[in-house]
Amino acid sequence: MYLAPDFEHQTSLKRIAILTSGGETPGMNSAIRAIVRTAAKANIDVLGIHRGYCGLLQQDFIQLCAESVSRISQGGGSILRCGSCAEFYQPQIRKLAASVLRDHQIDALIVIGGRGSLTGAHFLHMESEIPVIVLPGTIDNDLPFSDDAIGFDTAVNTAVDAIDKLQDTAYSHQRLFLVEVAGSSSGFVAAQVGIAVGAEMVIVPERAVHMDEVAGELSEKHRSGDLANGMVILAEGSAEPKLIRNLASALKAKDEDPRICVLGHIQRGGAPTAHDRTLAATLGNSAVHALLGGETHCMLGVQKGAIIPVDLKSVTLGTKPLPRAVIRLVEETGR
Ligand code: F6P
Repeated sequence: MYLAPDFEHQTSLKRIAILTSGGETPGMNSAIRAIVRTAAKANIDVLGIHRGYCGLLQQDFIQLCAESVSRISQGGGSILRCGSCAEFYQPQIRKLAASVLRDHQIDALIVIGGRGSLTGAHFLHMESEIPVIVLPGTIDNDLPFSDDAIGFDTAVNTAVDAIDKLQDTAYSHQRLFLVEVAGSSSGFVAAQVGIAVGAEMVIVPERAVHMDEVAGELSEKHRSGDLANGMVILAEGSAEPKLIRNLASALKAKDEDPRICVLGHIQRGGAPTAHDRTLAATLGNSAVHALLGGETHCMLGVQKGAIIPVDLKSVTLGTKPLPRAVIRLVEETGR
């Protein structure tokens, strides 16, 4: 469990709103529950906003109370629904959103989401001074200044579970499997999954490889019956053609017939792990305390086992490279 800081309460709040934005992640409901329950104990009214920023613009609100968030932690997705809102990149649209928040006497907004969501929250605050707190919610775990994000652990475990099953076929038929895991342009999911399943090889966008050489090496091992488990894990990456397509073509050119499995959105669904539920609950509880403590423009990140407020502007400008130690672990324990 991560430790939440003690925020000294300096302000009072009457009403706050929550929205979940971008791709849904397992665990978001635990965060919603913790926000609503913590706020209720401090006599703060909570409005849920449906469908992210688009729902905010359309005033698609729901009153949340301690009872309405009972028994939601075990469910995947978000009870508030999610979504990206391309319009929110326009300043005049954000101005409209700020006036909607003011019209509804909303003192602060808590946003749960990834990079696009936090960028929207950052500009909304800069232009309107409405206090915003962001909770990192992305299965990709690619947000800087946070070691963890709501949904990452579940996404990794879902992939590991699926790949463990594929290993039975790979072993029985001595087949090569190429498995693409989610992660957008980041290799955090692929690296962790690859290490957990003991993959032959893990290919991530952060580490350039020569596909012909990789294919040659895999083919040689395959022909000599020297495959450990037949699993090659590839990050989806954002470049086209995808890494998996490049490797499949290179293997086919060597008369190999690899089986392809793209896990994709399966990793975003399902019941959250206990880890994600606990992380989300801690972040949700901390978000209310952070607002009461006077924070107005931060993401609550996880650093060295503790929850830390990080200025939102730094998060929008930062990147999160895959640590060298993780790449080394992948290299030294794979092929
Ligand atoms: O950011 C989360 C994520 O699931 C990525 O891993 C993936 O690349 C992307 O979202 C998929 O987005 P969409 O749901 O729009 O297809």
